Amino acid sequence: MNPHFLYRARFLRLGLFVLAGFLLTSARGETPPRERLLLDFGWKFHLGDDWGLGEKLDKAGVSLGPAAESFGDASWRTVNLPHDWVVELPFDQKADTSHGFKPVGPGFHDNSVGWYRRTFDLPASDKGRRLTLQFDGVYRDCRVFFNGYLIGHHESGYTGFEYDVTDLAHCGGPNTISVRVDASQFEGWFYEGAGIYRHTWLVKTGPLHITPEETFVYSTFPDNVPGDRSTLHVKTALRNDQSGPVNVAVSWVVLDDKGRNVAQAVDSAALASWSTRQFSQTIPLDSPALWSPETPQLYRLVTTTGYDGEVMDQTITEFGIRTTAFDPDKGFLLNGKPYEIKGTCNHQDHAGVGSALPDHLQYFRIAQLKGMGDNAIRTSHNPPTPELLEACDRLGMLVMDENRLLGSDAQNLDYLQELVQRDRNHPSVFIWSLFNEENRQTTPTAANITSTMQNLVHRLDPTRLCTAAANVGNTFEGVDSVLDVRGWNYHIEPVDAYHREHPAQPEIGTEQGSTVSTRGIYANDSERGYVSAYDDNAPPWANTAKQWWGVYAPRPWLSGGFIWTGFDYRGEPTPYAWPCINSHFGIFDTCGFPKDNFYYYQAWWTDRNVLHILPHWNWAGQEGKEIDVRCLSNCEEVELFLNGTSQGRKKMALNSELRWNVKYSPGTLSAKGYKGGQEVAQDQVETTGAPANIKLSSDRPSIAANGEDVSVVTVVVTDSNNRVSPLAGNLIDFSISGPGKIIGVGNGDPSCHEPDVYIAAQPSHNVALKDWRMKLVDGVGERPETASTFDDSQWEQADVASEGGPLTPGQNAIYRTSFDVSADEMSSPSVILNFGTIDDNGWVYVNGQLAGESHDWAGHPSFAAGKFLHEGKNTIAVVVKNVDGPGGINHGVSLQIADNPKPVQWKRSVFNGLAEVIVQGTKEPGTIELTAHSDGLQSTTLNISAESATPRPAVP
Ligand code: GAL
Repeated sequence: MNPHFLYRARFLRLGLFVLAGFLLTSARGETPPRERLLLDFGWKFHLGDDWGLGEKLDKAGVSLGPAAESFGDASWRTVNLPHDWVVELPFDQKADTSHGFKPVGPGFHDNSVGWYRRTFDLPASDKGRRLTLQFDGVYRDCRVFFNGYLIGHHESGYTGFEYDVTDLAHCGGPNTISVRVDASQFEGWFYEGAGIYRHTWLVKTGPLHITPEETFVYSTFPDNVPGDRSTLHVKTALRNDQSGPVNVAVSWVVLDDKGRNVAQAVDSAALASWSTRQFSQTIPLDSPALWSPETPQLYRLVTTTGYDGEVMDQTITEFGIRTTAFDPDKGFLLNGKPYEIKGTCNHQDHAGVGSALPDHLQYFRIAQLKGMGDNAIRTSHNPPTPELLEACDRLGMLVMDENRLLGSDAQNLDYLQELVQRDRNHPSVFIWSLFNEENRQTTPTAANITSTMQNLVHRLDPTRLCTAAANVGNTFEGVDSVLDVRGWNYHIEPVDAYHREHPAQPEIGTEQGSTVSTRGIYANDSERGYVSAYDDNAPPWANTAKQWWGVYAPRPWLSGGFIWTGFDYRGEPTPYAWPCINSHFGIFDTCGFPKDNFYYYQAWWTDRNVLHILPHWNWAGQEGKEIDVRCLSNCEEVELFLNGTSQGRKKMALNSELRWNVKYSPGTLSAKGYKGGQEVAQDQVETTGAPANIKLSSDRPSIAANGEDVSVVTVVVTDSNNRVSPLAGNLIDFSISGPGKIIGVGNGDPSCHEPDVYIAAQPSHNVALKDWRMKLVDGVGERPETASTFDDSQWEQADVASEGGPLTPGQNAIYRTSFDVSADEMSSPSVILNFGTIDDNGWVYVNGQLAGESHDWAGHPSFAAGKFLHEGKNTIAVVVKNVDGPGGINHGVSLQIADNPKPVQWKRSVFNGLAEVIVQGTKEPGTIELTAHSDGLQSTTLNISAESATPRPAVP
């Protein structure tokens, strides 16, 4: 038999394991062929630019300050990722308005540089594997060091990046990642946060490995119209990172949503040493289940590779089967049929957590948007976090995936390529947006750049078209002359003229609306920075909901559009500035509580019978005065009643609203909605009594105890009849017990300056360590002088406080001192030994045990000492090796003894009756108890059940 065939047959047998659903391990069964370990937990964080860039450009592997391997970070705060430090800063009127008055960025350098460090052990068995660090997003301009080596500099705050650290790894020992993050400059004109605000991973593979960014699966149908026969196009690249060629095989197995094998293919070829090779196949698939927002049907592509009959790597790619197209007359077509985009633009921040969203919040936000009939989002104005797209694939939401900047230089094309390769397997993504409102968008140069960008996207993804968000009217010059699809930001008047003049170009409303409104407010108030929630106010360049949708709804060729915005976001407070700190464009506030316009869109964007009355009915002091009452509804007729007396029955015009002027008297305002003469909907608002109770509810009955999952808790202040108090502003205290913690609070008030997070103060006191003695020694190996009982009484006294030091180049010495620790101090949660400097190398022993090493003469090393101490007399011995210049221990030594922390008091005012608390579980199952208390109101406790769950594999 031809050996090649024999090989194929063996490999196919391996493929059968995949079909049977076995979790693949290497042939020896020791470790899985690929591990992707979450690297989010237990980072050390320091805010401030105390050490410069950390780079040392003349020699490799000897970086400075926190970039050095041996730097002591014991005194830094411990944080978990995702982490945004800007949300922790206070508001400051002098800070940038469009970034939400947070003192960060230009002019606030001290708050704009942060260092992160994480130390972890790699097992000795990792030797020979490829090790890669992956960052999904760091805002921004970061330098990454691994074991003291500078491994990369990544500027964009919105694209992911990765570094192969195989050569630098200590397998069988500790490894250190240091990341310097510099947010001194902005990339956008909206709140951007700062820090490692997306997930971070450590990926381990064998030397033969799949390159996931080059794995691509898409489907085609004859004439691009879905039918019974689809063709799957699968591509992947394999990399052989070892000396010696191998005869590799690759298999692709397609699993449906029940895990059944529905299609498969194999290929094989020789792969030279240290080389990459592309593989591709087409696979017929009959009767595919189509993906759409209404039927988010997913498949999985299992790509497996190996040689000599052994599986060496495997990846799983989620994908969906659907067709997309644009027709200049019919607009956007999904699965061959016109599909109107009822979309929202969104930035990435949320109340309480800034831009560092736990994954569940993505699902929460997408579910909220779907509730109003939203079927698409635009990731304005940057590549999103991968979990957002995962949520859109799974819940059913189309995505206009947006690149940050116009640019055909190498760096910008790299960012664009990263975006397209990362996101092209997501069925939710239906179009790429190359940029937003570029100042030079009407110039020939911008057209050239756009062509280059669009060509790159088409090469990487033959299945989707490109647009860009252009805030120009009937203008074809510049970018619009080259784009696949004309994108419209605002400018509703000239759309007919443009369509007439460019009948062959498809179009889409990239950014439309947008009403400015504040939840539960019914009059503009420039002093407090509130805008009424009636659909009446829009900035001069924009339009209300009724205005833009009135133009878009009857024009199918516009493909529908995206409202600016789904959720309020921090920054861009419009039309007012301070004290406003966030935008008012949202249909939801920053917490995700709907404003009244939610019901306008729900009425005209869904098939449900919708009837909603506004405003609330608490107008004490305005008895007898006329109140502007409106009904948002898709009923043909609506009749309004005040305390049972009809105020008139009115006919609803398409895409409109109904209004009554009603003389206020307390009681019940109610409405009935009719279709075909039948009553199909009711709504009512009632005058409520004084705030009396607090109610807590979670968005889900239980969460997974995996250390990441969150519960979104709604806080409501009600009257004694459990009716929401629409004017309540009570300050509520929160306490929590059980396996969970609060990670953020919010209330949707655009002018609220209360903190979103409360960080436990870390009070501590310092004890200077004095009475040092010193002796010169020959070497720095294992020294008897480091023993706790060693007698140093005859040694000479040493000065450790001054600059310089007594050691000449090449000299070594031991320094020793002793100190007392009280019983009280032994109960401290942490004791850190801080050195000014140790010049040049130091090995630090506490009671004879090695607490750590320092090899950076300019660093300020610190060591966790608590675990080595005992009550009574303790000793410290430091072996110092001087290399250049004068050396020794300089600038003093002290013990930083943490006092027992006071529990933080989380609190937040409700805004017009509502607030939000985000509760995160630990990895322990159990009941989390969240208690809310406020003077004068009935307290309440919510139980959240944290169910036993397998946490994602993580770096220990
Ligand atoms: C648009 C812009 C958005 C936002 C909005 C505010 O022109 O694309 O990012 O700034 O204006 O109305």
